[in-house]
Amino acid sequence: MATDKVSIHGAWVSRWVFILAATGSAVGLGNIWKFPYMTGMYGGGAFVAMYLVCIALIGVPIMLAETLIGRRGRQSPVNSMKALAAESGGSKLWPLAAVIGMVAALLILSFYSVVAGWSLDYIIGMGRGDFSGISPQGAGEAFGGLTSDPWRLTLWHTLFMVFTGFVIAKGVVAGLERSLRIMMPMLFVLLLMLLGYSLTTGHFMDGVRFLFHFDSSKVQEGILAAMGHAFFTLSVGVGSIMVYGSYMPKKSSIGATVLTVGLLDTVVALTAGLALFPIVFAAGLEPSGGPGLMFVTLPIAFGNIAFGQIAGLVFFVLVALAAWSSSISMLEPAVAYFVERTGRSRAVVTSTLAFFCWLVGMGTVLSFNVGADAKFFVFANDGFHLFQWGAEGGKNFFEGIDYLTSRLLLPLGGLSFALFAGWVMTREAVRDELSISSPVLFNVALWLIRVVAPIGVLIVFVAELTK
Ligand code: TRP
Repeated sequence: MATDKVSIHGAWVSRWVFILAATGSAVGLGNIWKFPYMTGMYGGGAFVAMYLVCIALIGVPIMLAETLIGRRGRQSPVNSMKALAAESGGSKLWPLAAVIGMVAALLILSFYSVVAGWSLDYIIGMGRGDFSGISPQGAGEAFGGLTSDPWRLTLWHTLFMVFTGFVIAKGVVAGLERSLRIMMPMLFVLLLMLLGYSLTTGHFMDGVRFLFHFDSSKVQEGILAAMGHAFFTLSVGVGSIMVYGSYMPKKSSIGATVLTVGLLDTVVALTAGLALFPIVFAAGLEPSGGPGLMFVTLPIAFGNIAFGQIAGLVFFVLVALAAWSSSISMLEPAVAYFVERTGRSRAVVTSTLAFFCWLVGMGTVLSFNVGADAKFFVFANDGFHLFQWGAEGGKNFFEGIDYLTSRLLLPLGGLSFALFAGWVMTREAVRDELSISSPVLFNVALWLIRVVAPIGVLIVFVAELTK
C-alpha cells in the first residue's frame, strides 16, 4: 500500500500542527476540573506518581498505536482500519472497534457540550459581576438555578454545539488548523495568567502542599482512578487521535511527537492544580470534589478575593476554550467517515451529526431537572433494569452515558487499537511508521503497545466491572 498518500480531507502543514491538535483534544475539562480534584482526593503526590506511570505505560502507547494506524491508513478511523486489516490479512471485524469508538466519541460529545455550556453561562455571570461577594449558599443556589432551568441549559448547549460544528464544517486546514493556531496559544496564556494571579494570593504553598503531600494510605484506591483518568485525559480509545494522525505529514517521528503531547497534557493538568487550589485556600474554603469544585467553590473564591472577578472571567474563558478544542476532536472521526462513505459535503455531514449529538445531549439537559427520575442501569432487589422511572438507585441519563463511555467503551476501544497495531499490523509496517532508528527503543515501544498497555487496560476494566 502506498504510504505517502494524503487523506482526502487534508493534511496538517507540519507535525507541530498535529501536536497542537492532539494537545487541544487532550487538554480539556479532564485537566482543568477532574485532575486537580482527583489529586486532592487520592493522596496528592501518591496519585500524581501513579498517574504519571499510567500515562507512560498505557496512555502514551495507545496514543502511539492510534497515531500510527491513522497515519498509515490516511482515512477516517473506520476506513483506515479496514484498509490496514486487508493489507495484513487480519479479520474483517477489526474496523468494528473504530465504529464503536466513533459512536462513543459522539456520545461523549453529547454531554460534554452540555457541561461546556455551563462555562459559557459562567463567563457571562463573571463578566456581569454576579459573583462578587457571593456567599457559599448563594453560589450553590446560582449553580442550582442554572441546572434546574432546561431552557437556559438548552440555550448554552445549542450554542456550544454550533461552535463545534462550525469549526469542523470548515475543514481540516481552514477550520481545525486555523482555529487551533489561535485557541491553543490563548489557552496557554490564560493558564499562565491564572497561575501568576495565584502566586499573588499568598497561599501558593498551601496549594503545593495539598497537591503533593504524600498520603500512602490512599494509593490502593487511587490506582484504578489514575488508570481510568489517563485514558480520558489523553483522549485515547475512540479514534480522535487516530483521525488527527491521518492528517500528519509522513516525514515526522511519531514517537517524539506523541511523547510531547503526553507531556504537555500533564504539564497543563499540574499547572491547573497549582493555579486553582491557592485561590480556593485564599478564600478560606475547603477544596471539594465533583462539579462543585469548578462551578460552586471556585466562583465563591473568585467572588471574595481581590481582582477575583477578572481572574474568574479568565478562568471560565479558559475552560470554554479547552472544552472547544476537545469537542471538535470528538466530532471529526465520524464526519471524516461519513464524508468518505456518502460523498456529501462536510457541511451537510457535520450539520447532520451535530444535530444528532445535540438531540442526545438534550437527554443530559433534562436529566438535571424534569427528567431526573429517568433511571438507567438499575440494580434493584428484583433484578437488573436497563430503564426504570423513579428508581432509587441507578444512573440518570447523564451519568448513564458517562458510565457507558468512560467505563466500557473507552477501555474497549483503547485495548482494540493497541492489539491491532501490535499484533495485526506487520512489524515492518509499524517500524516504517514509527521510524525509530534505535532497535532497542523500537522494541520497547512495540512491547509497550503489544503487552504492557493491553494488560494495563484489562486490569482496570475487570476491576471496574467487578467493583
Ligand atoms: N481529553 C479531554 C479532556 O480531558 C476529553 C476528550 C476529548 C476525550 N476527546 C476525547 C475523552 C475522546 C475521551 C475520548 O477533557
